[in-house]
Formats: sequence, C-alpha cells, structure tokens
Amino acid sequence: NETKNENDKKKALVFDSSVLQYESNIPSHFIWPDHEKPCAELPELLVPPIDLKAFLSGDPLAVSNASRLVNEACKKHGFFLVTNHGVDSSLLLKAHEYMDNFFGMQLSEKQRAQRKNGEHCGYASSFTGRFSSKLPWKETLSFQYCDTDHSSKIVQDYLLNVMGEDFKQFGRVYQEYCEAMSTLSLEIMELLGMSLGVGRKYFREYFEGHDSIMRLNYYPLCQKPDLTLGTGPHCDPTSLTVLHEDQVGGLQVFVDGKWHYIGPNPDAFVVNIGDTFMALSNGTYKSCLHRAVVNNKSVRKSLAFFLCPRRDRVVTPPGSLVNAENPRAYPDFTWPTLLEFTQKHYRADMKTLDAFS
Ligand code: SIN
Ligand code: FE2
Repeated sequence: NETKNENDKKKALVFDSSVLQYESNIPSHFIWPDHEKPCAELPELLVPPIDLKAFLSGDPLAVSNASRLVNEACKKHGFFLVTNHGVDSSLLLKAHEYMDNFFGMQLSEKQRAQRKNGEHCGYASSFTGRFSSKLPWKETLSFQYCDTDHSSKIVQDYLLNVMGEDFKQFGRVYQEYCEAMSTLSLEIMELLGMSLGVGRKYFREYFEGHDSIMRLNYYPLCQKPDLTLGTGPHCDPTSLTVLHEDQVGGLQVFVDGKWHYIGPNPDAFVVNIGDTFMALSNGTYKSCLHRAVVNNKSVRKSLAFFLCPRRDRVVTPPGSLVNAENPRAYPDFTWPTLLEFTQKHYRADMKTLDAFS
C-alpha cells in the first residue's frame, strides 16, 4: 500500500476539465474534508453598495455617506460593493466573452501560457500537473499589471508573446481591462482614505506605480458541488481586490463564526480589503476569510484585480492611525516579503499577518 501511494504521488494528474465537468465520479483530489465542504443553507452577507460617481462628484453628503458605509463595512469584514463605477459595460462583456474563448480551448492550446513553478503569471489548472488533495475546481489565467510606465502595454505584450499573433485582440481587451481596474482601484483608494480620515490623496499617492496582478477565474461545471470548492478558504494577502463576477454566484465570506454568501451583481464590483491594506490601516480594516463554491448548472467566471504596492514601498500606516489606544499592529514590511511568506507558510486557519510579524 505504501509503495502504491508513493507511485501515485509521482504520477502527474491530468484531467480534461471539459470531460470532467460532466462526471459524477469526482476524483478524490477534489473532495474536501467534511468540515470544509460547502454548507447547504447560508445567510446572505449584506454588503453596502457605494455609489462611486456620487462620491467622486465631491458632493459633501455623498462623500460622508460613502465614507461612513465603507468604514463600517471594513471594520467588520472588509467587503463592499461599488456601483456607478464608470467601467464601460461593453468592456466588461468583452472581458467575459474572451474568457469563454480562452478557457474553452483545448488544453494543449491553453498550456501555451502555462504558468511556471514559482511564477505568478500564466495559465494554471488544478486539473493538470499537481498531485495533492483539496484541489480547487478551477482554471486561471493571471498576468502582471504595473502602473510604472504608462506607455507600456504590459498585458498585451505578455499575451502576444506567450500565445502568439492570433491573440492580439485578446491581449488588447485585458490590457484595457487592467487599465480600467487601475483607475478604479485608485479611486477606491480615495474612498478608503476619506473613510479612514487621512484625506483623499494619501492612499492614492501611496499606490502610484503599483505592481498589481490580474486573474481570470474559470470554474467549470461540477456534478458534485457539495464535495468540492472552486476556491478554498483564504484571505487575500494583497492590498485590495476588485472583483467582477457573472450572474452565477458562488462567493462566500466567513463572518461572525459562520459562512455567508454574497449575491452576484454583474452591475457592481465586489471590493475587499487584503492583508496588506489591513496593515496599512494599522489593523482598523479587516482582511476576511472567503472562498468560492461551484455548481452543476452553470460554468462560473470571475475577474479579480489585486492591487499591490510598488515592490519597494514600505508598508507602514499613516501616523494619524497610530496612537496610545491603537499602537502599531504590525511591523513595517514590503509587499514581496509578505507574498513570499504567504506562499511558503499559508494555512487558512492562520492569521497570516500575525504569524508573519
Ligand atoms: C477568490 O477569492 O480568489 C475568488 C473569488 C471568486 O471567484 O468569487
Ligand atoms: Fe480572494
């Protein structure tokens, strides 16, 4: 038996997700332990919708309303919605459509963008290559987006480079999408600055030249969604996550000792605080455990933009958030050191920043 296990470990795992999504016999690697399996009936997490256009108009009432709602939500669980966000709806449609095109391709085609060990960019699928248990039921495509050089087309060039000439338009779409996310996340930084009483500009300027990550999440159908998870429980180590999802739903957040669902809303972005912003706010704003479930009726897609500071920026809270009542919650660090720590030591039941400190 021992030898059999050893041999099994050496075998690379290759499942074709286009076939596997119709199988009712789920490979054991995708079956999660009972205490982590999705729960049947969940309460809804009510997250405040923030009218971004009204906030940006500068109207004092709109600014104070938005700031109060964001402050309350972020102190509790770190999740809120952004509506009236100004991102072109035809760009959102295209970004979803091109995901169908990409993930619908043959595996060998997708593997042209295969993510290499230790890298953050490229195609990754838990249906291939890795041998472990508790695998997420998803495929992803990730790329880096830096705000350092506005004339560079970093996403477009990357996709053209790995996927070839046929993917020029594909690259253009996600280049444009990332540029829109960069603008949006810096506007949200103005909102977070106002909500923490440090002014509009503080965090916006802090994140100038950001070095961020874009990830396309594709969750195939699953005939046994009660045994599996699309994304396992985790806190985002990044600063801010700006998520656009289709109408399928599946995002869940752990608040007050139980899982809650967030209803899908394709007209809005779901925004959540990550560990790095929790540290920037001196622990005032929470980075909260969340996960995504899959289902047997529809494929689900989400697009996550992870705002991260410039790699050499020191993550340290503004002085006004540190006082006798609120001493420093975490020591100074830089984003790459936290990322490296998370990759080596991450456990869902661990408070990463506390362990890191
Ligand atoms: C994630 O948190 O990584 C994924 C969230 C989602 O797809 O809803
Ligand atoms: Fe996440």
